[in-house]
Amino acid sequence: MKVRDIILLPDKRLRQVSKPVAKVDAAARKLVAEMFTAMYAAPGIGLAAIQLGEPKRIITLDLAKKEQPSDPRVIINPELVWESDELGTYEEGCLSIPEYYEEVERPKAVTVKYIDIDGKPQEVEATGLLATALQHEIDHLNGILFIDHISKLKRDRVIKKFTKAAKQAAKDAKRSKD
Ligand code: NI
Repeated sequence: MKVRDIILLPDKRLRQVSKPVAKVDAAARKLVAEMFTAMYAAPGIGLAAIQLGEPKRIITLDLAKKEQPSDPRVIINPELVWESDELGTYEEGCLSIPEYYEEVERPKAVTVKYIDIDGKPQEVEATGLLATALQHEIDHLNGILFIDHISKLKRDRVIKKFTKAAKQAAKDAKRSKD
């Protein structure tokens, strides 16, 4: 399977609100497989479909540590039904903003309802890294990036850096074509 490209900041598609999946059909399962391939290749622990340019409410996760067996999770049409008042801080990163990490404060625990890969309704009560990862990826489905949760100063700085890099990459691509 060809590894699909993960779109990068400042690609405007990252700001799109993704649409619910009406049915977990063959096309949805194919997209999930492509998401895992791209996520593991990166490598990363979570991916939202929009990061492959597909505005669908699908998330793939695998929070297993290197020495642990893989633990792939598919979260479709997630709904945040509860969040704790207590906040926790994690250093977050994003495959669409490579090599940039910043501490983000979010609710420490959440309950999320979703549909699994078999189309069955599920509910997960999450704490720790899973709670953070779920919130980070659900944000993606709503066009929100983790840098929206940090200071404007830091956000502007990282957007500027990635905008400059994207312009340079476009220039380089054009030059190699000429
Ligand atoms: Ni991300």
